[in-house]
Amino acid sequence: MSDQTSQNNDGKNTDELNRREFFTFVSIILGSIAALIVAIPVIGSILAPVVRRKPGIWRSVGSLNDFKLGETVKVTFMNSDPLPWAGVTDESAAWLRRDSQDRFTAFSVNCAHLGCPVRWVSGAKLFMCPCHGGVYYEDGSWAAGPPPRGLYQYPVRVSNGQVEVLSSRIPVTTHG
Ligand code: FES
Repeated sequence: MSDQTSQNNDGKNTDELNRREFFTFVSIILGSIAALIVAIPVIGSILAPVVRRKPGIWRSVGSLNDFKLGETVKVTFMNSDPLPWAGVTDESAAWLRRDSQDRFTAFSVNCAHLGCPVRWVSGAKLFMCPCHGGVYYEDGSWAAGPPPRGLYQYPVRVSNGQVEVLSSRIPVTTHG
């Protein structure tokens, strides 16, 4: 009688053990699949810039007549290497100034420190970064704060009455 109970108990314990092992195994497999699903796009987005470096692309930011002489305005354009799923995050911006009839300067809106968007303060004739107090002179050169250099400038040209900015990767300092 007691052997029978022991066998039953043993049998039940073995069943429980097998069920637990099975569920553990299934959990590990499902967890691994979920981790893989999350990891693939993340790894892809990290490696993409290294694997596929494309040259800059000229992007139109408006017609020549849209810009007044001496004025500095913000313009937006698509990155040179947009990703299909990135949406508006693939847009870049620049502060564009018309220097003469056919000459423009385009300053990156990204601070040379850690990439925060800088504001053009026309009254002070300065570019100011709200993140850590970086300041740049009117010509984009460094004036104050942590940025190690002046603002990056995009090449600009006028083609067929359109003002075009060469959209390309810009260097941003990654140390404080
Ligand atoms: S990101 Fe502009 S000062 Fe730090």
